Amino acid sequence: MTKFSSFSLHFLIALTYMTRDCYNSEIIGGREVEPHSRPFMASLQYNGIHTCGGVLIHQQWVLTAAHCHSRKDKGRFSTVVLGAHSLSKNERSKQTLSIKRFIPFPRFASDPTSNDVMLIELYTNATLNKNVQLLQPRFRTDIKANTKCQVTGWGATNSKSQFFSDTLREVTVTVINRKLCNSQSYYNHKPIITKDLACAGNTRGQKDSCKGDSGGPLVCNGAFSALVSKGYKCGIAKKPGVYTILNKKYEAWIKKNLSHY
Ligand code: ARG
Repeated sequence: MTKFSSFSLHFLIALTYMTRDCYNSEIIGGREVEPHSRPFMASLQYNGIHTCGGVLIHQQWVLTAAHCHSRKDKGRFSTVVLGAHSLSKNERSKQTLSIKRFIPFPRFASDPTSNDVMLIELYTNATLNKNVQLLQPRFRTDIKANTKCQVTGWGATNSKSQFFSDTLREVTVTVINRKLCNSQSYYNHKPIITKDLACAGNTRGQKDSCKGDSGGPLVCNGAFSALVSKGYKCGIAKKPGVYTILNKKYEAWIKKNLSHY
């Protein structure tokens, strides 16, 4: 091999690694948040292992995705961790609370996923402070296409990874027109993106939620509007993340369950 071609070979290898890291180092394509700047974030854990995200909506209640309860890979989670930034570190801000009850939305179905919403009742009240705070949903019928929203979680930072992120991350995604999301080149009605669902991603892909982000919040113009539900792999432009819109149907059900508190 000549000097030149060995140089270009090394250059190509280096470039491959660089671009791979650029694209995959981040939720997908996002960045680590300022520690404790999202004090409403809950980590649902099974034997101390993160399974799903969630949002503290009341001192004794967490809102999450219903499919988080029936995961076959990790089994049932047993605690809710609040006030965390790093999952592995022993942070003094952390509150680990036991779960009293799981209340999946009554018409939750897993195949195809619909009504992927669940309330978790905690045994004890969370102590609200600067690291642990509530976030109220803003119930709405739809989220307009092209709205920019943030999705937050400890989910995988690359679609092939089996590992979750140790620190909390966030990425900005754009809501995609429902008709386009149902079209042949996108989800092609598998699954059907119904009125209860919103697609959000990026035209070039590489910005998405991923495994372990489920149940976490989608915040649009400052309003907690939807929950991470599903997606085909992660970060693929025409297979965007699918989110459950917190609409009137879920509002009535949440209010009914929380009415005694
Ligand atoms: N179902 C996944 C979970 O349990 C979330 C998938 C989100 N996928 C996506 N491509 N946005 O954590």
